[in-house]
Amino acid sequence: MHLLTMLLVFLLLHSAEPRRGPRSGAAERGKAGHVRGRGRAGLNRRQTQECKEYMEAGEKYLDCQDRQLTTVMQDWPKDIHHLLLARNKIQVLRENMFSQFTQLKSLDLQQNDISMVEGGAFNGLSQLTTLLLQHNGLKTASEEALLPLPRLTYLRLYDNPWSCHCSLDSLIRMLQVPSKRNLGNYAKCVEPLLLKGQKLKKLNVDLLCDNEVDRRPDDREPGRPKPPPTKVKPEATSMCHTYMFPKPLLDCSNKSLDHIPSNLPSDIVRMDLSSNSIKHLRPKQFLLSKDLKLLNLSSNSLHQLDTAAFAGLLYLRELDLSNNSLHYFQYGVLEDLYYLRKLSLGNNPWICDYNIHYLIYWLKHHPGVFYTGLICSEPQEFRGWRVEDYVKTYNGECPKDQQTGGMDTGQGGQGGSDNDTQEVMGETTEGQDDRLPRPLQERQPKTFEIIRLT
Ligand SMILES: *[C@@H]1O[C@H](CO)[C@@H](O)[C@H](O)[C@H]1NC(C)=O
Ligand SMILES: *[C@@H]1O[C@H](CO)[C@@H](O)[C@H](O)[C@H]1NC(C)=O
Ligand SMILES: *[C@@H]1O[C@H](CO)[C@@H](O)[C@H](O)[C@H]1NC(C)=O
Ligand SMILES: *[C@@H]1O[C@H](CO)[C@@H](O)[C@H](O)[C@H]1NC(C)=O
Repeated sequence: MHLLTMLLVFLLLHSAEPRRGPRSGAAERGKAGHVRGRGRAGLNRRQTQECKEYMEAGEKYLDCQDRQLTTVMQDWPKDIHHLLLARNKIQVLRENMFSQFTQLKSLDLQQNDISMVEGGAFNGLSQLTTLLLQHNGLKTASEEALLPLPRLTYLRLYDNPWSCHCSLDSLIRMLQVPSKRNLGNYAKCVEPLLLKGQKLKKLNVDLLCDNEVDRRPDDREPGRPKPPPTKVKPEATSMCHTYMFPKPLLDCSNKSLDHIPSNLPSDIVRMDLSSNSIKHLRPKQFLLSKDLKLLNLSSNSLHQLDTAAFAGLLYLRELDLSNNSLHYFQYGVLEDLYYLRKLSLGNNPWICDYNIHYLIYWLKHHPGVFYTGLICSEPQEFRGWRVEDYVKTYNGECPKDQQTGGMDTGQGGQGGSDNDTQEVMGETTEGQDDRLPRPLQERQPKTFEIIRLT
C-alpha cells in the first residue's frame, strides 16, 4: 500500500511537468523515404538493412519490422512518432536505448527475444502512450522501468513466461491500480505451479512474496486455494498476433483453429481468421468485437452459420467467406450487417434450391453490397449458373405472387439521404415487381428497430 501511494504521487508529479517542445515533424508531412541502419564497425551486416519511413495522418512512422535487428541505430531519425520493431532479434532493452526518440508515441517490440528490461530502458519517452511487449521471453520486470512513461495508457505484456515470484510484485501492483485499465491485460503467470494461468491483473498480490507459493502443490496446507483449472479453449491473445499500426489487426490466420478463439480483443478493426479449420459459426461469437471493419474467414471449412453469428458487427464493411463449404445462408443470418460493402462468396458449393433465396433477397435489398462468387454448384442442371439467374428462372416459372404490398413494415420512412443507411432504404424502396416466394414475405417480426437520430 505504501509503495502504491508513492507510485501514485510520483506519477502525478511527473505528469504535471511541462511537456517537451513542439513537434518538429509537421514540416515533413508527406515525406517518405528509407533510412539506413549502419552497424557500428560492421558489427552485424544484417543490421544495415533499410527501414521504411513514412507519414500517416501527420505522424511519422519508422518501420523496421522483420530485419534481424538486435538494437536500435544511432542514425535513425529522432523525430519519429511511431517505431515498429516487431519480429526482430532484440534480447535486452538497455538503459537509455530509446532516449533519443523524444517524440515517440508508440513503440512496438512484439515478437522479439526480449528477456530483460533494464531499469532505465524507457528513459526519455515522456510522450509514449503505447508499448507493445507481447510474444517475448520476459519472466520478470520491475515497475521502475515504466516510471519514465507518465502517459502510458496501453501496455501489452501477454505471451511472456511471467514468473510470478516476489520480484514481480511491484509491476503487478502497478498493473492492478484501477485507473490502469489497458496496462498488462491478458498477461498470465507461467510459474510457479500454484499460480500458473492466473492473470497478473487479477492475482492476489499478497501471495507473491509468500514462500508458500513456491512449495509443491501436495505440500499445501489443507484449505489453501487450489490453482484454477487450465483452460482448454485456445485464447486469441496467445494464439494470434496483434498489431496496432497502422490499423489494429488480429492475425489468427493459419493457426489450425477449429473454432473461433475465446477472448477476442474488443478494440480490433481487422481480424484475419483465414486458412483454419473452422466449421461452424455459433451465435454471438463476435459480439464484443464492435469495431471490426474487416473479417476474413476464407479457406476454412465453414458449412453452418447460425442466425446471430454476426451479431454485434454493426460496422463490418468487408466479409470474406470465400473457399468454404457453404450451401446457403440461413434465414436472418445477414441482418446484423448494416454497413456491409463487400462480400466474398467464391469457391463455395452453393446449392440452387429454395434455401438460397434468402441470400438473393437480402442482396437485392442491399444494393450497396458488392459481392463476388455466387455460382450454383448443385443441382446438376444449374451447375455453373449465376445464382441470381437461377432465382430469376424460379420466379419466372411461378405465377405472380400477390404479396407485393405487404412488405413495408413502416420502419424508417424518412427517406435516405445518407447512403450508409441502406438498410432503411432497402425497406422503403420495395419494388412493385417483387416476386419472392411466400415464406420470405411473411417475415418474422423484427427483433430490432432502427431509430434515426438526426
Ligand atoms: C501454414 O502453417 C504451416 C505450418 O504451421 C506452414 O508450413 C505453412 O507454410 C503455412 N501456410 C501459409 C500460407 O502461411
Ligand atoms: C483473406 O485471406 C486470404 C488468405 O490469407 C487472402 O488471400 C485474402 O485476400 C483475404 N481477404 C481479404 C478481404 O483481405
Ligand atoms: C482453399 O482452402 C483449402 C483448405 O480448406 C486450401 O488448401 C486451399 O489452398 C484454399 N484455396 C485457395 C484458392 O485459397
Ligand atoms: C449516394 O450515392 C449516389 C451514387 O452512388 C451519389 O450520387 C450521392 O451523392 C450519394 N449521397 C450521399 C449523401 O452520399
